[in-house]
Amino acid sequence: MCGIVGYIGKFNALEAVIEGLKKLEYRGYDSAGVAYKKENDIKICKEKGRVIDLEKCIMDIDSSLAIGHTRWATHGEPNQRNAHPHSSMTGRFVIVHNGIVENYQKLKFEYLNDYSFSSETDTEIIADLIEYFSNTLSVEESIRKTMSLIEGSYACLIIDKKHPNHIYCMKDKSPLLVGKGKDGISFSSDITGLIDYAEEYMPLEDKTFGIIDAEDVYLQDMIGLPIENRFQKMAIQKEEIDKQTFDHFMLKEIYEQPMMIRNLIHHYFSGEEVRISPKLIHHIRQSDKINFVACGSSMYASYFAKYYFEKLCGIPCEVFCASELVYSTPLISKRPFFIFFSQSGETADLLAVMKKVKKQKHPILTITNTIESSMVRLSDYHLNIYAGKEIAVASTKAYTAMLVTSTILARAVSKTKTNLKNNLKAVSLAMEKVLENKEVCRGIAQSIINQEDLFYIGRGIDYWTALEASLKLKEIAYIHTEAFSSGELKHGPIALITKNTPVIAIITQEGTNRITRSNLAETESRGAKTYVIASKSLSTPSDDVIIPNVAHYLSPLVSVLVVQLIAYYAAVFKQNDVDKPKNLAKSVTVE
Ligand code: M6R
Repeated sequence: MCGIVGYIGKFNALEAVIEGLKKLEYRGYDSAGVAYKKENDIKICKEKGRVIDLEKCIMDIDSSLAIGHTRWATHGEPNQRNAHPHSSMTGRFVIVHNGIVENYQKLKFEYLNDYSFSSETDTEIIADLIEYFSNTLSVEESIRKTMSLIEGSYACLIIDKKHPNHIYCMKDKSPLLVGKGKDGISFSSDITGLIDYAEEYMPLEDKTFGIIDAEDVYLQDMIGLPIENRFQKMAIQKEEIDKQTFDHFMLKEIYEQPMMIRNLIHHYFSGEEVRISPKLIHHIRQSDKINFVACGSSMYASYFAKYYFEKLCGIPCEVFCASELVYSTPLISKRPFFIFFSQSGETADLLAVMKKVKKQKHPILTITNTIESSMVRLSDYHLNIYAGKEIAVASTKAYTAMLVTSTILARAVSKTKTNLKNNLKAVSLAMEKVLENKEVCRGIAQSIINQEDLFYIGRGIDYWTALEASLKLKEIAYIHTEAFSSGELKHGPIALITKNTPVIAIITQEGTNRITRSNLAETESRGAKTYVIASKSLSTPSDDVIIPNVAHYLSPLVSVLVVQLIAYYAAVFKQNDVDKPKNLAKSVTVE
């Protein structure tokens, strides 16, 4: 989603901001812009399209202060006029914003009747409100007053032409981090944007207002009381956001999965024992139901977590889709425990649910790849999935890392001993074998790229992999794909099968092998072009992809690599923007 960056200090601020925007490109955007200080004036440059297009209009300009933005359109189409930065009517205040002002029509009506607007965005009214209040209040008071009126979410950087040696910031619900380096202060929507310019960083809390000069950061709450700065050492390496020799981040991240499993073993095992806070384990053991909350791939990962916890720990579990849960009131058990899965830790739907759960004082664990995230700060407990930065919009290694982390946690909560550590090592080797055979996946990808529709089928845990497989193919190859439990085909979806409709079956479980194959045969009799991905011990010579055997409950960690590769190559064959698919954003920070 939208990304904001800013810099004030001794380096060329425009260079720092452009580099920061490039690092945030992976979040998804459709226009970009910057505002910068030039001889005591503030200049704006914005473009529909890529950051690289923007770079051309500011080449060779030096500046000590700049703010920048990549916009993922919500209010108003993606064009130059709606791109950020936006100015107040007289041009005094210039602003970049990530979030949504839900009551912007009401605020316009109440305060800005005499104002004219130059964009269709909700953001512009923030600049106008600050200007409106600055007729009677100080800049600081005007910004805080504006904060108090906004319903929705915002992370904003603001420049006041009358005080061009400061950047002001305000934050509620949308993420904003401040970085501090030897030569200046920087801002970013996530930690990647701070690399190169910050040695320390600090995620801002909700309802924080800040005044920043080249030396320091002065934070206040909504009534102007000071907030203490809590900088932490930067915990990300530049190599993590480098494609190295891979054509795309997605392929690099697919290839990182075997190593990631070994890293997770290293982080969570001491000998054969799992190293997780005894307090957390005890808390989960006391609960009478675990509620998993997530979206997208992370939600599909939590189906496996439910399976592991029910099988190993005998605790009933339920998976909730966050965007549904936030507008419903399910029956909650007497001693519930909530586990949120989120790669980014910033997903707005999840944060909205988390705040409700927190209000009800239920215990919360966040399982995430982003320990500096808002969700971690709101939770009672958190577990790192140690996947390393995931740049491609389509999640791969974070999904598998969630599966592994949840099986390790379930093993720690259960009192039964399993050979999990060795089984995971075997998974890592099996993944490497799948990667060696990537040409088979490439072949399947080539054969499906001209299809309008495709179906993945499976039963039980293979069905959940089918859901993830289908999401991957939709996201990056833009092929309409559905996942069905193979048993459900006859109850309706089989009507969709026509000549050569591809149907891909995932078979890794002995108990459902025979029945899934017969369901697949039923689609074949109706003209489908069928493919089988099967574990070696269940395979037949005519199967298309044979994956090594691993412990049956871990086999989805191996089969999912096959479907990730199929989606990847299909997107490459179609010449799609693999890492930044159209209309999608990496971090979904609006509901
Ligand atoms: O950051 P999160 O894990 O909370 O994100 C949830 C979904 O937006 C995410 O998994 C999305 O479905 C991915 N693009 C899937 O590849």
